[in-house]
Amino acid sequence: MKVRDLPIPNDVKEILLNDGYDLLYPPQEESVNAGVLEGANLILASPTASGKTLIAELCIIKNILEKGGKAVYLTPLKALASEKYDEFSKYRSLRKDGNKLRIVISTGDYDRSDEWLRNYDIIISTNEKIDSLLRHGVTWINEIKTIVADETHLITEPDRGPTLEVTLTKLKKVNPNAQILLLSATIRNAEEMAEWIKATPITMNWRPVPLKEGVYYNGNIEFNDGSIKEIKAKLEDPILDIISDTIYNGGQVLIFTETRRNAVKQGKNTSKAVSDLLTKREKSMLSEIAEKILSTGEKTVLSEELASQIKKGTSFHHAGLGIGHRKIIEESFRKRKIKTLAATPTLAAGVNLPARVVIIGSYSRYEPGLGRGQISVLEYKQFSGRAGRPKYDDFGESVLIAKTEDEKEFLIENYVKAKPERIESKLAIERVLRPHVLSTLASKFVYTKKGLYDFFGETFYAYQNDSETIHQKIKSILDFLTEAEMVEIAGNYLNATNFGRKVSELYIDPLSAVIIREALYNRAKVLTELSFLHLLSHTPDIAPKLYTRSKEEKELSIFAQNHLDEFMTDTPNTFYDYEYSYNEFLSELKCTAVLLEWTNEKSEDEILSKYKVEPGDLARLVQNSEWLLYATHELAELFGHKDLLNLLFELRIRVKNGVRQELIHLVQLEGVGRIRARMLFNSGYKSIDSLKSADISSLSKVPLIGISIAKKIKEQVGGRIKDSELKLIKEDNKSDEQSLLTEFKD
Ligand SMILES: Nc1ncnc2c1ncn2[C@@H]1O[C@H](COP(=O)(O)OP(=O)(O)OP(=O)(O)O)[C@@H](O)[C@H]1O
Ligand SMILES: [Mg+2]
Repeated sequence: MKVRDLPIPNDVKEILLNDGYDLLYPPQEESVNAGVLEGANLILASPTASGKTLIAELCIIKNILEKGGKAVYLTPLKALASEKYDEFSKYRSLRKDGNKLRIVISTGDYDRSDEWLRNYDIIISTNEKIDSLLRHGVTWINEIKTIVADETHLITEPDRGPTLEVTLTKLKKVNPNAQILLLSATIRNAEEMAEWIKATPITMNWRPVPLKEGVYYNGNIEFNDGSIKEIKAKLEDPILDIISDTIYNGGQVLIFTETRRNAVKQGKNTSKAVSDLLTKREKSMLSEIAEKILSTGEKTVLSEELASQIKKGTSFHHAGLGIGHRKIIEESFRKRKIKTLAATPTLAAGVNLPARVVIIGSYSRYEPGLGRGQISVLEYKQFSGRAGRPKYDDFGESVLIAKTEDEKEFLIENYVKAKPERIESKLAIERVLRPHVLSTLASKFVYTKKGLYDFFGETFYAYQNDSETIHQKIKSILDFLTEAEMVEIAGNYLNATNFGRKVSELYIDPLSAVIIREALYNRAKVLTELSFLHLLSHTPDIAPKLYTRSKEEKELSIFAQNHLDEFMTDTPNTFYDYEYSYNEFLSELKCTAVLLEWTNEKSEDEILSKYKVEPGDLARLVQNSEWLLYATHELAELFGHKDLLNLLFELRIRVKNGVRQELIHLVQLEGVGRIRARMLFNSGYKSIDSLKSADISSLSKVPLIGISIAKKIKEQVGGRIKDSELKLIKEDNKSDEQSLLTEFKD
């Protein structure tokens, strides 16, 4: 089937033809035959790289141009949302009612109604962000005419699946006539999901670029099509041999590792083999990228390691890296400058990368609390599916590594030839269900207990199981919510209280809210910054949890002893406290200690090495704590704790920026991160007033400031600029000050 013959507007065809889309791929053709362009709901369960996105694009564009309304595109990851946003930008020139199509990506803060989104036609977002918008009761939700959920297999994940499931159920309820498309390469029970959502299932085993899945053992890769590829043993490590074979033949390699540490190690181990295959020109290009890495963010041991690997044409990629670094790595790999990438599973979903070969270095997985196990087939298929993507390679290969013949057989049987697991709803876990029950009431999706039962009766969970289990859970959650005064019962009706509504909108666990409310009433004997930092660390919303090493226990216990009067919540008094395990407490203390060091301007590197945390974890902890402080501030306001508001506001700025009290005004200036703020302060510019009266030339002499930043500061604080200084600025504008302008705000 040709793009030219599709029942879509001509200018859309032009865009597609220009972009190299000429013939539809078979799963796309099948979707069109199933009536997707006439509005049929669809579950498209076709292999990785089989072009599922295009079907979503066509439906979205056609619906908007012909019927008006809006489309939402849900993804599990911000990075994927951003890739999709780039893909959609080709449609910007299209016009609807004389206006250009408006496309937006929205993945930001959760406590916002972002009403401005109503001005857009296509909203690309994450599952959590759309959930939060629904909680804010945004008015444009009922204008949605197309709902796309990408990577729908996420529903089976205990932590995040329920959010997608509830969000889909809500969107469907508000817009019963909207077209729904669920996309995934790894849905085994597509029929079952299709019955739930009232869609046509399309399951097809076709891929545009052939993907051979195989297992390496003893010098050979045995593939699923029966072929065998010999790998010459040169480097005494099968992974290195496969890498050097691939690079030699012009391909690139993606290696999935189990842990971040292993990703770094794998990158390092790989670097010599890769570097030996690089040309001089490639090496000099890589040096430039390494420089860029070092000038982005604070210098840390990890960023130095990254730069040193990149110089050799290899890199690692994991959520422990800052977003700036990750972007540089992805782009350099896409442009084929970096030849191998050792990555943790965060890179596995939906992305298009030029990896001809994917090596799955380890199929084992450690789950806290569960011990060592194996990755699921679903995850394995997502890993291997990153190999051989159209536009980059003509074929793809994925390789598992076996050490024995026996293991080889096992891997072929249990991964290569196996089917991904059934998708099963995880909604009935009370902790996950709790916020959804509250939000469904608070945003007035339902008004009664029966309404609640009916609503959750429409979820995938209820479809797969009996409704009785979920009724029981809802009952017990309702008891909790009424006891906590988040929900009131008035005859037949269930009303969310102001507290309940606030908690739903703040996007925190109702249990966190109860803990915070109690603490705000009880206070501590001595109220300090530690009191609040520990309070956050004590809520179930704190993430990531920082596990303690046995070496740290003693020091943390002493830390606790020294601050006993400052805790706002009960502390366990023996090592055998059953109610509240001591280990949990230690982990909270570690979070608290890290946040204290951060807000007291300990350098990132010192914190990372002292507590053995990684930059991405620190960044996530800081971001989450800032969010929880915001929530605490809002709750303090709601409950009339006026005396705490300023304190909480300031602490939030300190946590966000990692500064002491004295810098909170300076650090809020644009272009001034914590390091520059400290430089200014130590050079005598202690307040905004002192900056107002400062002249640009003296300001620019402060280390790390320079003329551009000095000017930027003056623009913000006001104050007179002398003529002689204007001249100085003009001259400076000619010189290259770009690097200073883009200081990373930590
Ligand atoms: N009909 C087509 N002709 C040419 N290229 C196409 C066509 N359809 C899709 N592609 C290209 O194929 C690549 C893979 O498509 P896409 O990202 O939609 O895969 P997918 O099915 O979503 O895979 P995954 O399950 O891994 O997310 C993209 O680069 C896309 O531009
Ligand atoms: Mg996809």
